[in-house]
Amino acid sequence: MSLKDKINSKCLPNHVAIIMDGNGRWAKCHGKHRLFGHQNGVESVREVTEASVELGIKYLTLYAFSTENWNRPKDEIEGLMHLMIQAIENETPTLMKNNVRFETIGDIEKINQETRDAIDRITEKTKNNDALTLIIALSYSSRWEIEKAVRDIATKVKNNEIEIDDICQVMISNHLCTKNFPDPDLLIRTSGEYRISNFLMWQLSYAELYFTPTFWPDFKKENYYEAILDFQSRERRFGKTSEQINK
Ligand code: FPP
Repeated sequence: MSLKDKINSKCLPNHVAIIMDGNGRWAKCHGKHRLFGHQNGVESVREVTEASVELGIKYLTLYAFSTENWNRPKDEIEGLMHLMIQAIENETPTLMKNNVRFETIGDIEKINQETRDAIDRITEKTKNNDALTLIIALSYSSRWEIEKAVRDIATKVKNNEIEIDDICQVMISNHLCTKNFPDPDLLIRTSGEYRISNFLMWQLSYAELYFTPTFWPDFKKENYYEAILDFQSRERRFGKTSEQINK
């Protein structure tokens, strides 16, 4: 029985989030430049996107560029943005064929115009697709997002649009960039690092965490199936007891 066949299609994670880590170390192991690692990482993006569609997973969020990544060398940032444009252009027909909607979260205004134009084109073109929503976190960090939400809510209080007593968890969620998406059920981080790195900190409250030593460019469909099978072996209690969940 293949790994894929072992997956129970009735208890899939609705939303998988991935911290794609290890491109630089993978490139170094192969004696190549860091950008070579990112280029090969695009192939893994294709694999997990395709696998998500095949399995019937509805949301996939990929951490492609954090607000902290702006501190990387200029040539790496430019290379990554160029790669993003190339990937968007090359993959648009496949996303259309597979009925995938493309979305982004993050401080997109910081991104250069050429990349933003490519993002706008693919977002518009795929907006009615509904098999999978592929969300790319770009110039994103949780602390940036939460700070922005607090400012927006405080402004509404100041303008008498809402009362302080109206502030609740649902309202906070509705002021995050992810307001239109459900919280992730499963977080995967590659490359043997055990950190959340400022990624979806509010939204991951009840997610199952899966860490693998595999570098992102080596993370293929079989690795993804393994992560999903591991998820399916967990008991999610959401603060309740095992007896309450199983009655
Ligand atoms: C982390 O590895 C990876 C990134 C910062 C970039 C991820 C980008 C891609 C996979 C390519 C473009 C993405 C899309 C969605 C088309 P790292 O550079 O931090 O690796 P290291 O920790 O080994 O240095």
